[in-house]
Amino acid sequence: MSIVYLNGAYMEASEAKISPMDRGFLFGDGIYEVIPTHQGKGVGLGLHLKRMENGLRSIGVEFDAEPLKQVIAELLEKNDGDDLNVYIQVSRGTYEKRFHGFPDKVEPTVFAYTWQIGPAHVADKAQAHTLKVVTADDLRWQRCHIKSTSLLGNVLHFQQSYGEGYDETLLFNGDGNLTEGSSSNAYIVKDGVVYTPPLSDELLPGITRKILLTILAEHSDIKVVERAVSKQEVLDADEIWMTSASKEVGPVIQVDGQKVGSGEIGDVWLKAQTLYSKHCYDIDC
Ligand code: PDD
Repeated sequence: MSIVYLNGAYMEASEAKISPMDRGFLFGDGIYEVIPTHQGKGVGLGLHLKRMENGLRSIGVEFDAEPLKQVIAELLEKNDGDDLNVYIQVSRGTYEKRFHGFPDKVEPTVFAYTWQIGPAHVADKAQAHTLKVVTADDLRWQRCHIKSTSLLGNVLHFQQSYGEGYDETLLFNGDGNLTEGSSSNAYIVKDGVVYTPPLSDELLPGITRKILLTILAEHSDIKVVERAVSKQEVLDADEIWMTSASKEVGPVIQVDGQKVGSGEIGDVWLKAQTLYSKHCYDIDC
């Protein structure tokens, strides 16, 4: 049984209790992070905590995430694993009645737990987990840059692919341009150049995205262009990648039943994942 953290205390997961009046439960009124750790080191730990503070500020909750570093260190020790994901959720808190407006005096609820994941990915075409994806109109809300726990839109989009045996759903906005995946950022590669949608309220500013783009700029001559990417460009791409804390740089080999490029993992992916594996711990706040 894993040891979790709830509002200042560590306990068995089965002992952690949150009121049904918590606004995270009633409204999805909270912010979360998922941070991968390997051999006790968090990938982009400071960046994740900074995004959490920014997300909370954008919903009117002032919160200092710095003390969570200690919480994470203790959870890693108590759960005794080399490869653990850390989930942290901060909701606005529990209030005596259900009312849409923000309550005046309420303490945020802070919950964190870990679970075992595989080792850090290996930059090897033979060992990479390839992704088969489907496309869909992006029907989520207009503030996708906030890492909100209100994830029903993402959950429904994910199920569109998962329910049919695929790995992820690529989403397109009203102009027919790529936004991201239901739980990951998206990229295409054409003639050796990487294209990815620029940050906006249509997509999450992924920490893996930030780390990857920084590494590619600092350690490679691979050109990355942040601009709108049309559906046709996605279908004609040589390579497609999806990134997230768990996927790292995930190579997509099929979209809507059609091969991506040759249908094999691409060479630009190999360079990108190789550099990511080498430098991902160097890039932080
Ligand atoms: N998902 N876009 C969306 C909609 C996401 O939910 C995620 C992450 C990402 C990638 O962000 P990052 O690189 O910071 O993991 C992009 C997490 C892992 C989840 O919901 O479990």
